[in-house]
Amino acid sequence: MPENLSAAAAGTWKLGDSTIHRMGFGAMRITANPDRDLAVRVLRRAVELGVNHIDTAAFYVSPGGTLGIGEGPSRFANELIREALSPYPEGLVITTKVGPGIGPDHDFYQATSAADLRAQVELNLRQLGKDHLDVVNLRILKKPGADSVAERFGALAELRDAGLIRHLGLSNVRPDHLDEAQAIAPVVCVQNSYALDTHRDDDTFLRVCGERGVAYVPFFAIAGPAREGQATTDHADAVRRLAAAKGVSEQQIRLAWTLHQGPHVLAIPGTGNPAHLEQNIAAAGLRLTPEELAGLN
Ligand SMILES: NC(=O)c1ccc[n+]([C@@H]2O[C@H](COP(=O)([O-])OP(=O)(O)OC[C@H]3O[C@@H](n4cnc5c(N)ncnc54)[C@H](OP(=O)(O)O)[C@@H]3O)[C@@H](O)[C@H]2O)c1
Repeated sequence: MPENLSAAAAGTWKLGDSTIHRMGFGAMRITANPDRDLAVRVLRRAVELGVNHIDTAAFYVSPGGTLGIGEGPSRFANELIREALSPYPEGLVITTKVGPGIGPDHDFYQATSAADLRAQVELNLRQLGKDHLDVVNLRILKKPGADSVAERFGALAELRDAGLIRHLGLSNVRPDHLDEAQAIAPVVCVQNSYALDTHRDDDTFLRVCGERGVAYVPFFAIAGPAREGQATTDHADAVRRLAAAKGVSEQQIRLAWTLHQGPHVLAIPGTGNPAHLEQNIAAAGLRLTPEELAGLN
């Protein structure tokens, strides 16, 4: 492991009023392993390695239907984050998302009212042990046609005005959703599914976000078409060849490619594996030449 391994090697971005390293961490995968202590160690190591942007959600929880409730210590990502990192270090930005939630019967539901959204924000505050949330993304289920975010985003803007939230973002959205939201309140980030080989129809949207000073935060940068499954193994030949030539993994090439898509593009790779964490942080310092990028594209 190189001595200078640090998320700082990816450079910085001003997310709202905080300057963060562009290599961050996604907390969805830390709930997958039954070893709770390992999850805590991974989170602490991420911060030790310079990560100061963590993505989470109140509905990231151990799999298996019981959602960690009633079977000993819970494995909610937010509670693991609190256990590992609170009192939170200066400058750590925790981004969470609302919209989807877990109901009293432990089933998923979508927030449809201002009251639902407020309850989800308050749940995040309790689980994380914070008095305000740094960034909250409104995560929607995209529907063709009229699926306005105005009412729900407006409800979150009111919670921002009330001091429960510092900054707002959007997730799983189209450019027209960003237009709608920006007419209501400032948007600091858009978090969409996007990778070298996935959802390249978002290329233009990514650029538009950059032009507007909005961070574009891809999820599934490593998992790609495998989505919630394990990291894809279906790499293009160009990815395999470049990984071999540079002596790195295909996953590191995928992350480096992500970070080369613009200074406003933030990486949030998810892992519960300490070795993968270090490989992902190492990708923060991987530089690709214009020729290498053209080969990957
Ligand atoms: N807004 C949304 O709707 C939404 C949806 C999904 C996710 N997210 C957020 O985005 C983050 C990233 O998405 P993700 O975690 O699903 O996918 P990802 O980061 O693209 O990939 C994670 C998968 O790749 C594996 N992996 C990670 N690093 C690796 C490495 N260096 N080598 C080999 N395999 C590696 C992980 O397994 P191991 O644990 O074994 O390493 C896991 O299976 C999430 O953690 C979550 O915070 C947001």
